[in-house]
Amino acid sequence: MKLNSCRGILAVIAAGVWITNACAQHEHNAQTQSMPKTEMMSIHKAVAVLTPTQGNTASGVVTFTKVDGGVRVSANLMNVPVGDHGFHIHEFGDCSSADGVAAGGHFNPTKMDHAGPTAEKRHVGDLGNVTANAEGKVQLDYVDQHLAFAGPNSILGRGLILHAQPDDLKTQPTGAAGARIACGVIGIAKE
Ligand code: CU
Ligand code: ZN
Repeated sequence: MKLNSCRGILAVIAAGVWITNACAQHEHNAQTQSMPKTEMMSIHKAVAVLTPTQGNTASGVVTFTKVDGGVRVSANLMNVPVGDHGFHIHEFGDCSSADGVAAGGHFNPTKMDHAGPTAEKRHVGDLGNVTANAEGKVQLDYVDQHLAFAGPNSILGRGLILHAQPDDLKTQPTGAAGARIACGVIGIAKE
């Protein structure tokens, strides 16, 4: 309401330079007060929507939620070929290439070797495998102790990749999980 009356005065007294300044200041203050203080907020939830790479079908939604002891990873995927598939967070949140390769290698800010999700030393991005049932559905729900939403291990803005083959949890640096059949970007979610 105050902003509207401000503009009304401007329309009537177009030449009033001092009023123009006063109203500009008023609008500036109103904007500052309504801006979210992102630097003071801590992120509690993130989400990635996986979409199939070229020639593939797998898709779904993966959420990451901060809990005691780590980050809870919940995946609901569909149209996935039956069996085990490597599942990793990759360095770049870039799904622009048809084969998913633009997402780069496994997210590895701590410069460790590739390993399985329960290993003490691993790539931060090593989420291991997911398993698709006979209907092509994947349901995953576990708490990961290496993932974070702040600091060098933050997964926000990184890529999430589903592979064609199982991750053997030992071959360096990829787990020999083969082609990338789905790609998503991890973004901040509504709580
Ligand atoms: Cu991968
Ligand atoms: Zn890895």
